[in-house]
This record gives sequence, structure tokens and C-alpha cells, in this order.
Amino acid sequence: MDNPRSDQPPYFLRSKRLGFRPWSEQDLSLAIGLWGDTTERKHGVQYWPLFLLEDGEHVGCCGIRPYDPTQRLYELGVHIRSSYWGRGLAEEAASATIDYAFEKLGATALFAGHKPKNNASRRLLEKLGFQYTHAQLYAPNGPRTPLVPSWAWAQTRLEAIS
Ligand SMILES: CC(C)(COP(=O)(O)OP(=O)(O)OC[C@H]1O[C@@H](n2cnc3c(N)ncnc32)[C@H](O)[C@@H]1OP(=O)(O)O)[C@@H](O)C(=O)NCCC(=O)NCCS
Repeated sequence: MDNPRSDQPPYFLRSKRLGFRPWSEQDLSLAIGLWGDTTERKHGVQYWPLFLLEDGEHVGCCGIRPYDPTQRLYELGVHIRSSYWGRGLAEEAASATIDYAFEKLGATALFAGHKPKNNASRRLLEKLGFQYTHAQLYAPNGPRTPLVPSWAWAQTRLEAIS
């Protein structure tokens, strides 16, 4: 699928307003723009970069990464640049990613974790159909991280997540 920037790989996935492509070596400035903003840095996730289809602007990242590969469980993550918050882009990106995970990658279930006080994440996950399953140590944040609520996509095999 076309990307308006001919020096970059084509989009492999599109939603109504967004295009997804892999990271490239030229993307350092995009990563700094996303994670260098202290408004956003505290949440830290990394996935495919996202671009507005209408003008190619980088708005954040969204995607999945392996959670339990033997059971085809993936972890969903989304991170939108603060200047684009409140426009429904996280919901749009995550919805496209969820469809991609189940339909193209054969996921059996999706997991998502968030900090207890991150109301934006909780609301977003509720809207996407995730259901609270349990609290667990969230490994990506390191062994000293306190227990945080973790959420799991309720479509299939919730019992596999523990
Ligand atoms: C969480 C985040 C992805 C939301 O992005 P966004 O594009 O502003 O979200 P959307 O516009 O799609 O909103 C989705 C829902 O979340 C709600 N929401 C967004 N920010 C919120 C906030 N600060 N507090 C409460 N609800 C919030 C929206 O109101 C909307 O629900 P509604 O339709 O009932 O009003 C964004 O704030 C972000 O990137 N934060 C840093 C990284 C992070 O926390 N990622 C989440 C990991 S799961």
C-alpha cells in the first residue's frame, strides 16, 4: 500500500485516517519526537509508527508484540503524540491492530497492561472490549514496578492468561 513519502516503505495496514509501516533507520527523529516529549515518556511502549493518511504526519505508534508466543497471545500497545490526543486516533489505531492480530496473525487473545491511575488507557481499553482479568507485575517496566492492573482482550482463551 502506498506511502506518500517515496523514500519510506509502503503502509502494510490502513484504517480510515491512519497508515502503519515498519520503523526504518531514518526514523530516529520520529522516535525522539514521540518518546522525548516528557508528557508521553512516562508511559513508554514501542510499536509500528503511525501516520495520518491525509498528510503523512507522524502521530504515534500502535501494534502488538509477543506475550506468550506458544499460545499466540500478543500484547497490544498504543502511544499517540500529545498534540494529537482526544481525536479518537488511539481507538482507531488499536481497532485496526486488533483486527489485524486476530484476522491476519491468528491471535487467540490479546493482553494489555496499564498503570492503575492511567484513566485514559483504562477508558480506551474498555471501549475496545477488553475486560479486567487480574493484577500482575508488569515486566516491561522492570522488577521494581508495583503490581498494576492488567487487562486482557475478552474474545478468546482468557484462561490462558495468568
Ligand atoms: C492513552 C492514549 C493512547 C489515548 O489516546 P487518544 O488518541 O487521546 O485517545 P482517543 O481519542 O482514541 O480516546 C479513547 C477514549 O479514551 C478517553 N480518554 C482519552 N484520554 C483520556 C484521559 N486523559 N482521561 C480519561 N479518558 C480519556 C477518550 O475520552 C475516549 O473515550 P470516550 O469516547 O468515552 O470519550 C494517549 O493518551 C497516550 O498515548 N498516552 C501515553 C501512552 C499510553 O498511556 N498508552 C496506553 C497503553 S494501553
